[in-house]
Amino acid sequence: MVSARIAALVLGAGALVAAAPAPTPTQPAKLQDRAASCTFTDAAVASKSKTACSTIVLSNIAVPSGTTLDMTKLNDGTTVIFEGTTSFGYKEWEGPLISVSGTKITVKGASGHVIDGNGAKWWDGEGSNGGKTKPKFFYAHSLKQSTISNLNVKNTPVQGFSINSATDLVLDHITIDNSAGDITDGGHNTDAFDVGSSSGITISNANIKNQDDCLAINSGTNIHFVDGTCSGGHGLSIGSVGGRSDNTVDGVVIENSTITNSQNGVRIKTVYDATGKVNNVTYKDITLSGITKYGVVIEQDYENGSPTGTPTTGVPITDLTLSGVKGSVSSSATPIYILCGTGSCSDWTWSNVAVTGGKASTECSGVPSGASC
Ligand SMILES: *[C@@H]1O[C@H](CO)[C@@H](O)[C@H](O)[C@H]1NC(C)=O
Ligand SMILES: *[C@@H]1O[C@H](CO)[C@@H](O)[C@H](O)[C@H]1NC(C)=O
Repeated sequence: MVSARIAALVLGAGALVAAAPAPTPTQPAKLQDRAASCTFTDAAVASKSKTACSTIVLSNIAVPSGTTLDMTKLNDGTTVIFEGTTSFGYKEWEGPLISVSGTKITVKGASGHVIDGNGAKWWDGEGSNGGKTKPKFFYAHSLKQSTISNLNVKNTPVQGFSINSATDLVLDHITIDNSAGDITDGGHNTDAFDVGSSSGITISNANIKNQDDCLAINSGTNIHFVDGTCSGGHGLSIGSVGGRSDNTVDGVVIENSTITNSQNGVRIKTVYDATGKVNNVTYKDITLSGITKYGVVIEQDYENGSPTGTPTTGVPITDLTLSGVKGSVSSSATPIYILCGTGSCSDWTWSNVAVTGGKASTECSGVPSGASC
């Protein structure tokens, strides 16, 4: 079928050459000779043939250990469909297990599919801080004007979706269930979405069960997280910001989402002694329950992944709106904690912030007008 199509095309191109004196038929010919839909059951064959098909169906693919299911540099407008079970062989390596790049790309899951990261083989409670080297799950890098939707993911070894150098990317109805990692020496640093150096990102209807940030924005502009459900992790986070090549977070809306049974709810961390900025951030209609550390935590003192207790002013947090952030924290938790340097948090507008339970912090400092601790 496919070869018949290509043969017909080659004939057509020949006819064109014969008819026209100075033809340059390579571009149209290339577009036309892409088979409409290709179904692959082997990762290496799929990667090798990816530019020959306008729709790529990845059917029940068992990706060999230590290799990436490589869907990078796809032709513009390509559709990639995960079908059946996608699984991965075990090896200690950095990953990623899956990588997709291109423009106007559609990635989606067929009904009943599952992408199983087989995380239990790597989990040792140490995440990316030690123990086994664990592969990152999915690189959505350099994806432009694209959509990733309806993916059903289980058990990532460590971090899930890495969104970097992406523009105008929608991630809709992504489910990640890492709850099997809620055991001693289980999943750790299983962030669902890490966003860096990206612009125009919408993450809608995410349903996440994990053991680290549901969302972590390290840098980027115009980022929208809406209608999400986060459970078991560390909350909806910005940061830590500072100390990277891109240290600007500007224009974030996180809304209509719930965070349950998590360490934190709303979190913004900036790095001690670093420079950068966090500006124009809104958290709106966020419902918290079963929060074990902080309902709302904003601190300018992070160093090497831990708070120092001493805030610095080089990454100001400005134009921060919290509206309708409600719910409860557990008895040992702190509802709100704010640790800002002198004058480095300003223009905050808080309304309907009602976080109950736990014990009020006695250590807030640099709290700007508009907020309370
Ligand atoms: C703040 O960010 C939002 C979301 O990206 C954007 O729509 C809005 O225009 C920004 N406001 C300003 C004053 O830049
Ligand atoms: C908010 O989230 C709820 C529950 O997920 C959903 O039913 C509702 O449509 C959402 N509302 C808006 C305005 O997005």
